[in-house]
Amino acid sequence: MTERTLAIIKPDAVRKKVIGRIIQRIEDEGFEILGLKMVHLTREEARKFYYVHKDKPFYESLTDFMSSGPSVVLLLERENAIKHWREVMGATDPAQARPGTLRRQFGFSIERNAVHGSDSPQTAEYEIAFFFG
Ligand code: CMP
Repeated sequence: MTERTLAIIKPDAVRKKVIGRIIQRIEDEGFEILGLKMVHLTREEARKFYYVHKDKPFYESLTDFMSSGPSVVLLLERENAIKHWREVMGATDPAQARPGTLRRQFGFSIERNAVHGSDSPQTAEYEIAFFFG
């Protein structure tokens, strides 16, 4: 089933100058890039985007980090886009992510983990609307 997902190249990866390598991987994995833009989230926007995590102990730190510099957001389409992008990203914690995954390759910590992806069709709908209307 063709579906859409929302990907983010996070501020740590932008600072590391690996935008190009991550986008190359996205294209190599067969995703169509339907939308792409650079955004510098405000703290309020980051808090809204990660609202589902509002009660987690890492919420403040995560939203500070996500508003610390520009990110690149992408609207992606592919067969099983949500699951496939999550496989390409790897586990949330780069130390647990399999070799060859983006988080293993470019992530620094469980928070500064280089990339984000929607985790369900409902989340994808919310996250795509958040950035692409
Ligand atoms: P992401 O896929 O963007 O979704 C939520 C983010 O919260 C996650 O990637 C990490 O950046 C961050 N996160 C998840 N778990 C933790 C944790 N235990 N400590 C700090 N940050 C976390």
